[in-house]
Amino acid sequence: MTQPAGPIPPLLLVGCGQMGSAMLAGWLADGLAPSVILDRHRADGPAPHRIVRQAADLPDDFTPALIVLATKPQKAAAVIPDIARFARRAPVLSVMAGKTVGGLAASLADAGAPGAVVIRAMPNTPAAIGQGMTVCYAPPAATEAERALCGRVLSAVGDTAWVEHEEQMDAVTAVSGSGPAYVFLLAELMEQAAVAQGLPPDLARRIARRTVSGAGALMEQSGVDAAELRRRVTSPGGTTQQALAVLMEPEAWPAAMDAAIRAATLRAHELAS
Ligand SMILES: NC(=O)c1ccc[n+]([C@@H]2O[C@H](COP(=O)([O-])OP(=O)(O)OC[C@H]3O[C@@H](n4cnc5c(N)ncnc54)[C@H](OP(=O)(O)O)[C@@H]3O)[C@@H](O)[C@H]2O)c1
Repeated sequence: MTQPAGPIPPLLLVGCGQMGSAMLAGWLADGLAPSVILDRHRADGPAPHRIVRQAADLPDDFTPALIVLATKPQKAAAVIPDIARFARRAPVLSVMAGKTVGGLAASLADAGAPGAVVIRAMPNTPAAIGQGMTVCYAPPAATEAERALCGRVLSAVGDTAWVEHEEQMDAVTAVSGSGPAYVFLLAELMEQAAVAQGLPPDLARRIARRTVSGAGALMEQSGVDAAELRRRVTSPGGTTQQALAVLMEPEAWPAAMDAAIRAATLRAHELAS
């Protein structure tokens, strides 16, 4: 979908912790119209944006183009009644893991915003440096303009994609939402293994980190399939082939990754129900 150009329209950002502030950094860099940020821990913010620490201080006359819900899922019930009045006139973009469009719309209706449009998105933390991957789901009731608005706002923090079926958000959560943690684990394990082979800890840390980030950047910039890039590093009978023979044993990484993604997908499903 082509994203509309131009500045990002006024937003009401509800929750500005890890994910909210990552997104906010991208929006500020991309030209954000005067917006309101609700977070009890933020003392100030860049002008002309307004920071409020409690819902009671939200300005009644503020008309956001979009409400971005970025609190922990368990805090949603507390915050929804406070923002329902804005959801009568603006769509809601939720980045909360596991909270369904139907469940949030029902809570908003109970709080006095019947028919509120809710679009769901799963970003990830590389959004903090504009390298995020966000996958979105919009219910049939959402208009093309509402989808485009969410796409515009999210494209400020990285790449965006859409799924047609909300259940697919569970696997998305398991792969791209949680995925940065798997990559960080890879760096950790490579570092530990390097130390076990006798390298000084500082050097082990440096080469493990740089290898993970450099390989990711090469994959991104080349656009070449991961499997082909792997083959290009693998000479017959060489060191890489020895290592890959261990890692690619069906019971090793293929089984572990499959089980890990399955477990995370199942957990995302449980959280949604
Ligand atoms: N972190 C990730 O990697 C990631 C990835 C994808 C999606 N997400 C989603 O992003 C959402 C936010 O996660 P996070 O890690 O950014 O959470 P977080 O760091 O806890 O940020 C939420 C912020 O909102 C504040 N807040 C909550 N309710 C409030 C209220 N009623 N009034 C004022 N402030 C309030 C919280 O304060 P308190 O702490 O005092 O409640 C906190 O400062 C989650 O739903 C998560 O599923 C996160």
